[in-house]
Amino acid sequence: MAFDPVRFRSLFPALSRTVNGHPAAFFDGPGGSQVPEAVIAATREYYVSRNANTHGQFLTSRRADETVAEARQAAAALLGAEGPETISFGQNMTTLNFALARAIGRTLRPGDEIVVTELDHDANVAPWLSLAERGAVLRWCPVRLDSCTLDMDAMRALIGPKTRHIAVGYASNAVGTVNDVGEVVRLGHAVGATVSIDAVHFVPHGLVDVQELGADFLLCSAYKFFGPHVGILYSRPGALDELPTDRVRPQDATAPTRIETGTLNHAALAGTTAAIETIAGQGVGADLRTRIESAFAAIYPYEHALAGRLWQGLAEIPGVTLYGPVVGSALRAPTISFRIQGHEPAAIAAILGEQGFFVWDGDFYAVTVIDRLGLADKGGVVRVGMAPYILEAEVDALLAAVRNIAD
Ligand SMILES: Cc1ncc(COP(=O)(O)O)c(C=O)c1O
Repeated sequence: MAFDPVRFRSLFPALSRTVNGHPAAFFDGPGGSQVPEAVIAATREYYVSRNANTHGQFLTSRRADETVAEARQAAAALLGAEGPETISFGQNMTTLNFALARAIGRTLRPGDEIVVTELDHDANVAPWLSLAERGAVLRWCPVRLDSCTLDMDAMRALIGPKTRHIAVGYASNAVGTVNDVGEVVRLGHAVGATVSIDAVHFVPHGLVDVQELGADFLLCSAYKFFGPHVGILYSRPGALDELPTDRVRPQDATAPTRIETGTLNHAALAGTTAAIETIAGQGVGADLRTRIESAFAAIYPYEHALAGRLWQGLAEIPGVTLYGPVVGSALRAPTISFRIQGHEPAAIAAILGEQGFFVWDGDFYAVTVIDRLGLADKGGVVRVGMAPYILEAEVDALLAAVRNIAD
């Protein structure tokens, strides 16, 4: 099924904004995507007809229970999970990951090793670094600076009998690299370690199949894929039940609630279901998972054609340096980072912003890779994120604006 970006765009009321007379181009998706009307409507509908706490014996409470159950079902379909009981929710990915790390930390003995990577967002590093206080030894998998890819030989050498857990990113939010997370899971399991995957930057762009990956844990965030601010944690059946999580005593001690503290944001969960259904609506098939698979089979090439066009265009502009794997050379997120010689990234983003091009600058909390690239005290990079609602004409207009700055 061919992807229709114009139809997709029409679902998003925010996209009609203008800035100083210029149409706004939302290249800021890696920081948070825009939201379709269906998500706004589902959130509103929750407050109108479903608003109550869960587990009561009355209508609205039953509706709230359904809202949570539907969101778990939809997120399970999005991730290819075994079922809704594998899906836990939280405030955001970072909060869930700290909760996961705290729980895993309680099972560690001094000298146990945890592997993190130089490529990751700090939300997948800091929670594990905090375990050093408990005597855990942190081992860093380095990044190859020429390609911004993980050094998998180093990863293999790091993993050994003392490794208890590996925290790896699926895709870099700074430079777009997609890591061989399936291989990391295999390496971890071969020594009896658990593996968690930060899929926040991958989920909006490509199909995830947690069962095929064999991941113990995988995290993502609904506001990156057209939904509200909700964190999602997949845990392999049984994986969460073994962990000493923070809980109130009356709480159900099994997955998925074992790691959920307090009342969830039900309205946002209604929106999360609508966001996943919006993705699925771009595909065809008899069930939600099949439609999601079909949708990503169409979205991935569409976004990559845009990313390739941008990469190619930027590469031809004198003074531009691009970071990350060359588009087309590997599985990749359609996220392009660059610098222009003689211009600060923040200044470039500000000029572009005045012309309606919403792009991010800085390190985007992927602090280590930006530091290793020698850019930490130079303002980092300018980051342009593709989304299915971006049009080719917007990429061309952005290229023209960047050319003007570089001239
Ligand atoms: C790759 C990656 N991981 C983790 C996070 C943190 O997600 P959250 O904002 O849901 O805590 C982000 C947010 O930008 C991200 O891009």
